[in-house]
Amino acid sequence: MSQPRDQLGRSLTDLRISVTDRCNFRCTFCMPEDREYDFVPRAEVLSYEEILRLARIFVSRGVHKVRVTGGEPLLRRDLERLIEGLAAIEGLDDLALTTNGLLLPKKAESLHRAGLQRVTVSLHSLEAATFSRLAGGRGDLAGVLAGIEAAAAAGLTPVKINTVVIQGVNDHEIVSLARRFRGDEFVLRFIEYMDVGTLNAWDPASVVSAEEIIRRIDAELPLEPAPRRHANDVAKRYRYRDGGGEVGVIASITEPFCGDCTRARLSADGHLYTCLFSAVGHDLKAPLRAGESDAELGERLDTIWGRRSDRYSEERSARLERAAASGGSAEASDEASDVLAGEARVEMFRIGG
Ligand code: GTP
Ligand code: 5AD
Ligand code: SF4
Ligand code: SF4
Repeated sequence: MSQPRDQLGRSLTDLRISVTDRCNFRCTFCMPEDREYDFVPRAEVLSYEEILRLARIFVSRGVHKVRVTGGEPLLRRDLERLIEGLAAIEGLDDLALTTNGLLLPKKAESLHRAGLQRVTVSLHSLEAATFSRLAGGRGDLAGVLAGIEAAAAAGLTPVKINTVVIQGVNDHEIVSLARRFRGDEFVLRFIEYMDVGTLNAWDPASVVSAEEIIRRIDAELPLEPAPRRHANDVAKRYRYRDGGGEVGVIASITEPFCGDCTRARLSADGHLYTCLFSAVGHDLKAPLRAGESDAELGERLDTIWGRRSDRYSEERSARLERAAASGGSAEASDEASDVLAGEARVEMFRIGG
């Protein structure tokens, strides 16, 4: 079976499947609460049978890693049924899920039983007030911490914790978060704040670099670099020198990793996005529902992937560097804003991180 390569020679090994664009949180940097959202109407959302059929075709093209995302994936009814179906696909050897964690106390065990191997929980603060502000007043810190514990108790270990670091908002918590999630049961990853999401008020000054994050942790809890597990891993790993486990950083802004990007995203309404920053997806649902065969859908995939040349983060870096080199801070910040102005920005919650 063919395994397509894109224009930059990258294969397709990793698929993120968004099962819903709805969320029970309203994170300020993703789905601000003061806006109205046109969520995908139910009839337009792919059924589990449709997702499984597409997933099998993706696996026949080289995908061996699937991450279920949202919005908040645990809002989708009977998610265990989808997980069971995905776990049964031969050739799919890594099945994970990214969640805000609130519903994990109810779901962790049944998901694990259904065949889920790993879970990543997004948690951006250990302070109740900051947590609540970032989540748009929804959910609660204690509930998410209980979710993380439930995932560990169910054997979904190591539980990964994703923390987006925003300058002046939660960067003072870097070391306390690192302390809280040391040990073999958890892997904490700090993510540089990205210019993705609708109107997320991003500006380069709100980014805390991975280098700075590691410097601050290392000053209190000495670290040493650890090798990447796979070439296309997004996180750089560090080990605590005292054997207290590991921590990671995802340097999407300061050290973009487009060259190794073998990821695609399937939105809840069946569109394929070949980059986290693609403003438009390729409709797979229409041909699927019009009765195309697996072979035809597979060829469609090959064509889409074969034309892919996305490298948004690298291009953004180059532009930001040019803006910085162009001198005076006013000009630099004007040009930095221009970096974003021309982009039709994708809504992160529609395609999952
Ligand atoms: P594993 O290594 O399998 O655990 O997963 P992961 O680290 O790929 O998964 P996760 O979805 O948790 O990704 C972590 C974060 O990295 C995401 O939330 C994004 O912020 C960022 N990220 C993931 N993929 C991409 C990508 O393709 N491009 C960019 N620019 N950022 C990404
Ligand atoms: N920059 C970096 N990461 C983000 N996430 C959501 N928005 C952003 C952003 N602007 C994270 C979520 C989740 C993952 C899927 O992406 O917190 O952990
Ligand atoms: Fe927050 Fe994730 Fe929901 Fe977006 S999808 S509002 S980042 S919990
Ligand atoms: Fe991949 Fe696009 Fe992210 Fe680059 S910006 S790593 S091409 S998803």
